[in-house]
Amino acid sequence: MITPGSTIGILGGGQLGRMLTLAGRSLGYRFHIFEPGGPSPAGMVADHEVNAPYSDEAALKAFAEGVDIITLEFENIPADVIDFISAIKPVMPGKQALHICQHRQREKDFLKASGFPCVLFEYADSPESLKMAIENVGFPCVIKTAAFGYDGKGQIKLNKPDEAENCNYLWNFLERPPRVVVEKWIHHIGEFSVVCARKADGSKITFPVSENIHVHHILHASIVPARITESTAQAGEKLARDIADKLDVVGLIAVELFLNEDGSLIVNEMAPRPHNSGHYTIDGCITSQFEQHVRAVTDLPFGSTDLKHATVMINLLGDVWQGGEPDWSGLLSDPNVKLHLYDKGDARPGRKMGHFCVIGDDVDSTLEAAEAHFKKLSEN
Ligand SMILES: Nc1ncnc2c1ncn2[C@@H]1O[C@H](COP(=O)(O)OP(=O)(O)OP(=O)(O)O)[C@@H](O)[C@H]1O
Ligand SMILES: [Mg+2]
Repeated sequence: MITPGSTIGILGGGQLGRMLTLAGRSLGYRFHIFEPGGPSPAGMVADHEVNAPYSDEAALKAFAEGVDIITLEFENIPADVIDFISAIKPVMPGKQALHICQHRQREKDFLKASGFPCVLFEYADSPESLKMAIENVGFPCVIKTAAFGYDGKGQIKLNKPDEAENCNYLWNFLERPPRVVVEKWIHHIGEFSVVCARKADGSKITFPVSENIHVHHILHASIVPARITESTAQAGEKLARDIADKLDVVGLIAVELFLNEDGSLIVNEMAPRPHNSGHYTIDGCITSQFEQHVRAVTDLPFGSTDLKHATVMINLLGDVWQGGEPDWSGLLSDPNVKLHLYDKGDARPGRKMGHFCVIGDDVDSTLEAAEAHFKKLSEN
């Protein structure tokens, strides 16, 4: 067990690292952040921040030597960096989970080979093979670069054959990536996710399923409890637990799901870290996803994941800052609202700057109240 008072190193300094640090601090842990571009939102609330590129072995070595365990808030860490630091200190969630989840083709191959439901897909590594892949998948479909995508970046949706005629153009538009995955577009009736925490001994606990609304491929709202049947919720939680076991995750894994009209679930993708759709747990659950991650990697007992009340989380993107600092008075004077800001500075459109949660007795009225607050903020 890594006892309170020990130091946890986090690779990545974004808002996930910030909330992880804030949660772990209340359990008495210390935090060091490794972030190439800083000062960062996590570094600002941590004990120590290192700003160096991942290629700087001396900086990585000093960072690893200065902490007791290492975890991450960002999965796109080069494999040789993980190899290098895991020779010095334990790195969680572990190499296998990272290697698979940081690359869409490996992720899809893993799901298919393990028998988990996933979308029909093909991969391509040139404009010519892209043409073939699109033909095999059919329309509508979506092309996604295999690595480094987030918030829908590096994706092109194709609705009909004439949009796929010029594969050279599509390839150049994606900046000539080493590899892409072409996926069948799913006409789902909703998007959901489950965050599961797992410890090295294989014990696991899931958080309540979140119902997720995306706008322009970016998460807008998480609604909990999700408006699905009990059996669908159980099936989603089981998928997350089974995937966590198969990947031997230590820490958190978030599993994104599509729900089909016939009630079946399809895995969209996984993230071996805290997830935006789990932010609702800070205000909605007895234990947050961030605290649970700290408990899992330090081998403390899990906290309860019980939902205290209906909770709706709304993301605040930079767009809300268009007219300057938003007027927070409406949110802050509502006794059912909690506001979380990440202190990121530059509020570019589409950039995640913060979120708020609204709590209530029933999910529909809570969602209505949350959207009303968001509308008011957007009109400023
Ligand atoms: N095959 C698909 N069928 C239907 N919708 C899809 C499909 N692929 C992606 N989408 C839509 O686009 C969103 C973003 O896609 P995906 O999760 O693959 O991208 P991402 O860039 O990794 O996003 P994030 O990091 O925010 O999860 C999905 O949540 C979903 O709304
Ligand atoms: Mg996603």
